[in-house]
Amino acid sequence: MAKQNIYILGIESSCDDTSAAVIQNGKVLSNVVASQKIHEAYGGVVPELASRAHQQNIVPVVDQALEKAGISKEDLSAIAFTRGPGLMGSLLVGTSFAKSLAYGLNIPLIDVNHMQAHILAHFIEEENFKKPPFPFLAMTISGGHTQIVKVNNYFDMTVIGETIDDAVGEAYDKSGKILGLGYPAGPEIDKRAQLGNPKAFPFTKPKVDGLNFSFSGLKTAILYFIQKETKAHPNFIEENLNDVCASIQYTIIGILIDKLKKASKETGIHHIAIGGGVSANSGIRKALKDGEQKFGWTTYIPKFEYTTDNAAMIAIVGYLKFLESDFAEQDVMASARLKI
Ligand code: KG4
Ligand code: ZN
Repeated sequence: MAKQNIYILGIESSCDDTSAAVIQNGKVLSNVVASQKIHEAYGGVVPELASRAHQQNIVPVVDQALEKAGISKEDLSAIAFTRGPGLMGSLLVGTSFAKSLAYGLNIPLIDVNHMQAHILAHFIEEENFKKPPFPFLAMTISGGHTQIVKVNNYFDMTVIGETIDDAVGEAYDKSGKILGLGYPAGPEIDKRAQLGNPKAFPFTKPKVDGLNFSFSGLKTAILYFIQKETKAHPNFIEENLNDVCASIQYTIIGILIDKLKKASKETGIHHIAIGGGVSANSGIRKALKDGEQKFGWTTYIPKFEYTTDNAAMIAIVGYLKFLESDFAEQDVMASARLKI
């Protein structure tokens, strides 16, 4: 009897989260994420430790994803995995695991571009979430990337702007380090920003041509500002932390929204989606929503669990590729610098 359901197992291991998810005909049945706490002590991801932790996590995480989905591996129609971009040692764990499992089960293997997946997460079937129509603009904002992408179709995308130095998530994490916050600092800065005055300490926005971004100057400006203030008042950080966080967040959001406005004007596209870890940020979510009134945008904001790295977004790309019989060969290689 022909299979009535398409079950895709997605595997994500590009950075410091080991994740596995099962999607049935575009709907998420399970999405298990094991975040690696070990990096917190180092204030950033240590590649060697990340790949070792992936090796330890991958079997239990996949088992859990299948169990939560209520299916066995024999029910799977195909296996999708993150081929890149990401840390090579981390990518290799997911890639080798996916290849072996697909080979053992004699089912198709599907390679997925992590940055496309952050965008195509919008096509997961979810109640009360509308899917963007083509063409739309997607801004992917994460710890490793900051891009504005013109999405003409599922697999026809063009990067029209990107960072020339740090990613926006890095700006959050490096600012957090300067302020003595833990890693990753994005969520805490966000929390504190909501309690502070965004206009307390003005930081200059960088001047970058076209639709590109730059965040390294902001990081340096914050460092010098904090050094200067703490010299005069040793308790400056403690006494002003919420206001400093609010001011940093206000500046970052201003930079992002300015470029989105420019991109929308230049392309004439008013359907705007966001994706990636920083799209969990409360301020950017609000600023985007405000854009509906202010600039006539229709905006698409992913469900919280599909913003930071997760395998559901890998599995949905697997499903879309499965429908087109777009499969990978067994000799497919992980690619740390894979482009959209
Ligand atoms: O997409 P992601 O999980 O991993 C990468 O592919 O990089 O993004 C992680 C980044 C980190 O820099 C983290 O600080 C940031 O997303 N992040 C946030 C928030 N939640 C996560 N940044 C600002 N506000 C948040 N609420
Ligand atoms: Zn990511």
